[in-house]
Amino acid sequence: MKPARRPSNPLFSSGPCAKRPGWSLDSLDGALLGRSHRSKPGKAKLKEVIDLTRAVLAIPGDYRIGIVPASDTGAVEMALWNLLGARGVDMLAWESFGKEWVTDVTKQLKLPDVRLLQADYGKLPDLGQADFGRDVVFTWNGTTSGVRVPNGDWIPDDRQGLSICDATSAAFAMDIPWSKIDVATWSWQKVLGGEAAHGMLVLSPRAVERLESFQPDRPLPKIFRLTKGGKLIEGIFVGDTINTPSMLCVEDAIDGLRWALSIGGLQQLVRRSEQNLRIVAEWAEASPWAGFLATDPAIRSCTAICLRFTDPDVTALSADAQATFAKKLAALLETEEAAFDAGSYRDAPPGLRLWGGATVENEDMEAVLPWLDWAFATVKAELVK
Ligand SMILES: Cc1ncc(COP(=O)(O)O)c(C=O)c1O
Repeated sequence: MKPARRPSNPLFSSGPCAKRPGWSLDSLDGALLGRSHRSKPGKAKLKEVIDLTRAVLAIPGDYRIGIVPASDTGAVEMALWNLLGARGVDMLAWESFGKEWVTDVTKQLKLPDVRLLQADYGKLPDLGQADFGRDVVFTWNGTTSGVRVPNGDWIPDDRQGLSICDATSAAFAMDIPWSKIDVATWSWQKVLGGEAAHGMLVLSPRAVERLESFQPDRPLPKIFRLTKGGKLIEGIFVGDTINTPSMLCVEDAIDGLRWALSIGGLQQLVRRSEQNLRIVAEWAEASPWAGFLATDPAIRSCTAICLRFTDPDVTALSADAQATFAKKLAALLETEEAAFDAGSYRDAPPGLRLWGGATVENEDMEAVLPWLDWAFATVKAELVK
């Protein structure tokens, strides 16, 4: 039977993610449009993003926070291009985005001393193998496999290398222990439901020390440059952006951060997201056809909730047929306006992916699950004879 009730917000995309509850275009009324981002009020807006970010995430006062171009990818690559090469580097990867950073380091930067610690979709590499005498690059939460690191305990406080973390689908939904992190990056388009285009770059004092003591032997386009004459360009970290940001996106980022504070800050953001995971986990436990791609609950993501098929009739199908099944399933959920963008990532094993970040209401996560059951049964009746 087709469920009677649809989620009131059926947006489950893993990026751009659903806007915060109650958001409308009116929320951007205060945007500083048609004015220079270098004007006094323009800089104040940019500084507000930085200050609110520090407040919500409890980022230590001696860490720099900058707004940089090109979304999370821009922020990650800026870090890799500026910082890597002083030491060997361990690259940890367990899904497509981590693998992109491996490609950057091996094929583009062509660094001579790279160790790859990789794992398949649904798993983590052995974190104990990461050597913090070297630099270590990792993704806190793998958005395409739904696998996150369980905590930061595997990162020593007295490390010599830098820990460089792509935290784009973790920041604002998971606790990130800042003492374990030298570089963190994310995009506004994820957990707070902002717009893409701009990235956030957080630097520890040790990362700044590296920037000021190590000159990489490679060209750096202006868009990547963080130092001038061997000194950090401090302006970037108080809102003096490298190039022109969208002040509409900036206003939206401020709106998301203010909303975060209004509901009780990071603790509440994490609670909302963890509850979304719990809701799906209870359902999946009883489901005859779906299970988590991440079999170990300790490493399951509360934002990118990735499901695979467990129904024997479906798992017996060829890989291509399973992919077709998954596509039909996601398409049916869209046609019914029950869930948009719930298909698994194109390179990931076939299944479903539901974003459970802080802007997704727990009731909507509850409401979508009967639709998954109905859609699965409908597609199975059509495709599996
Ligand atoms: C873990 C991870 N890294 C990087 C990216 C790329 O982000 P952006 O498109 O904001 O540059 C994504 C996007 O989903 C991601 O999930």
